[in-house]
Amino acid sequence: MSEQHDPAEREAILKDPGFCRHSTGHTAVVDWDADTGWSDPLVGPWSDLAMDPATLGLHYGQAVFEGLKAFRAEDGSVHLFRPEDHGRRLARSAARLAMAEMPAELFTRACADLVAADAAWVPRGYGQSLYLRPLLIATEPDLGLRPSRRYRCVILAYPADPCFGAAFRPLSVTTATDTVRAVRGGTGESKCAGNYAAGLLTRTEAQAAGYDEVLWLDGLERSRIEELSTMNLFLVWRDRTGTWVTTPPCDGTIVRGLTRDSLLTLAKDRGIAAAEEHTTIDAVRDGLRTGRLAEVFACGTAGVVVPVGRLAIGGEDLTVGDGEEGPMTAALRSSLLDVQHRRTHDAHGWLRTVVPAEGNGGRRA
Ligand SMILES: Cc1ncc(COP(=O)(O)O)c(C=O)c1O
Repeated sequence: MSEQHDPAEREAILKDPGFCRHSTGHTAVVDWDADTGWSDPLVGPWSDLAMDPATLGLHYGQAVFEGLKAFRAEDGSVHLFRPEDHGRRLARSAARLAMAEMPAELFTRACADLVAADAAWVPRGYGQSLYLRPLLIATEPDLGLRPSRRYRCVILAYPADPCFGAAFRPLSVTTATDTVRAVRGGTGESKCAGNYAAGLLTRTEAQAAGYDEVLWLDGLERSRIEELSTMNLFLVWRDRTGTWVTTPPCDGTIVRGLTRDSLLTLAKDRGIAAAEEHTTIDAVRDGLRTGRLAEVFACGTAGVVVPVGRLAIGGEDLTVGDGEEGPMTAALRSSLLDVQHRRTHDAHGWLRTVVPAEGNGGRRA
């Protein structure tokens, strides 16, 4: 994936970036050593991670990651979306795996340094972004089972459309029946590499059967809905009294999605009732049959907000509404993107300016 591009190639890529098809060719690196602590961020050319085959991170899975985005506003300025919150989540993921916890301020600085160096790579289109993928991995060689005394954080950058494409279609999703993703007390809340490996077999089988994604149920009773493999889930309910949205609570088994949190906040800002509550898969099935469950959508940094058009539950294929995107899903997606591209006021202070408006003398805001 190591790529070096001249400006003409870059402009060609930016016309149709896709999702993480082309890296910017740069990374930011921050190292931690038990004796010296955290290094300063270093932005440089993309390079291989050379590792001893006995490295702890490769054998015992001390590897966690994040995914966050920088957006361009109409005036040309570039802003990271909630980088401190992503930094805090990376630190919580790391703590669960007995890894070094990078301060959120240092994480934000490393992300901002990379975005500033790659500012020309931030696309201009609505919904497009520079996607950052920070990885924190144990780098000390030793086969004894113990926490590493050395870690590397390497941040990758890619110009990106939302991961399901600029013109996406509603997702088809099937419930996981034989396997579970997480149990209480496990690592479900942590964005650790092992969680994704554990879900891959089921996701691959679902995709072979024609579905885009898997809906995971709780690990104990397998009765309550939790989340998808890479996204949180929202349900939009409608009856004679009105419309409201619900999403499963963060009880330790799902990733505390920052998109999820932003949408809950934006919904409340707009006077839409929004609740974190458990829902059984039976209630989802009944809601779809009666039409009371009018819309279902998934959300995450990479995909933003994506409608679910078809949901398979226990062998029964159910269409959500008319199978197309519903009005609440579309409204919440544009509410979020409008903040991210600074088309509306950033009332919650989610944006961190990295590159000021064009014509502002090149000063950082
Ligand atoms: C399992 C899982 N759930 C939910 C999310 C959504 O989190 P966020 O909105 O912070 O990207 C992600 C993506 O990070 C994820 O991997």
